[in-house]
Amino acid sequence: MSPNSTRLEGRTALVTGSTGGLGIAIAKRLAAEGAVVVVSGRDDARGAAVVADIRAGGGDAVFVVADLGAGQREVHRVARAATDAAGGRLDIVVNNAATLLMPTPTADIPMQTLRDAFEVNVFAPFLLVGAIAPEMAERGDGAIVNIGSITGLRGAAGSAIYNGTKAVIHSFTKSWADEFGPRGVRVNAVAPGPIATDRQAEFADHVQPVLDRLPSRRMSTPAEVAAAVAFLASDDAANIHGAVLSVDGGWSAV
Ligand SMILES: NC(=O)c1ccc[n+]([C@@H]2O[C@H](COP(=O)([O-])OP(=O)(O)OC[C@H]3O[C@@H](n4cnc5c(N)ncnc54)[C@H](OP(=O)(O)O)[C@@H]3O)[C@@H](O)[C@H]2O)c1
Repeated sequence: MSPNSTRLEGRTALVTGSTGGLGIAIAKRLAAEGAVVVVSGRDDARGAAVVADIRAGGGDAVFVVADLGAGQREVHRVARAATDAAGGRLDIVVNNAATLLMPTPTADIPMQTLRDAFEVNVFAPFLLVGAIAPEMAERGDGAIVNIGSITGLRGAAGSAIYNGTKAVIHSFTKSWADEFGPRGVRVNAVAPGPIATDRQAEFADHVQPVLDRLPSRRMSTPAEVAAAVAFLASDDAANIHGAVLSVDGGWSAV
């Protein structure tokens, strides 16, 4: 399926955390397939740049500023603002924004770090889905794609918090599939392995030994992960509910 396919034409999509990293690739891919994309993140300037880039490529996008670490009132404001910006209806939500954490011994992690990670990685997707999925269910149509991680399927010393938040996302995905699927809303997740983003360079020392063991021997590109998101968001995945699709160069298999 080429990125220039039109399988998402007529759809609207919110992509959280689409001012950087993987989120930009997802926003661009959904727009390239015809969706009107609500780009979102904390940084106005980076948001405006992503919107300009999508429009320059012939797509349609708007920006909604969002601080998903700021609690329930802000997340509910973002849900309303994104729905309005999309013209009153969101067909697709991609829960991508997350706080990435350096591996740190458990005893050295301040309580605030624990709270902040769960606020952005767990509470915000929970509140967004709670705000948006019922409207999708009322219309009988919608697709939610949560960005989990291979780390949510595995343990790693010093990574209990980040890995734990991603394990929760995988679990939410299955429960929401059961809750909303019968009313036409498909909920799935993508579980990437290491992705070649700017941030990933910070984790190079931890990642290289992993890459050396992967069947693919390399990271995924953001575009490769975005392609899986677009698939799950599209009617090509019409009978896929509650899946956690690994895009990890084979890490979960070996
Ligand atoms: N990179 C990897 O190797 C990898 C591997 C597996 C899974 N993942 C998952 O992929 C997703 C994207 O990761 P990434 O590597 O692209 O991360 P990233 O480069 O750090 O980008 C994170 C995005 O989330 C936004 N964000 C962060 N905190 C936010 C907040 N409080 N409120 C609103 N937006 C916020 C950031 O935008 P602003 O700064 O503008 O707010 C940015 O757009 C995450 O769910 C991550 O867990 C990544």
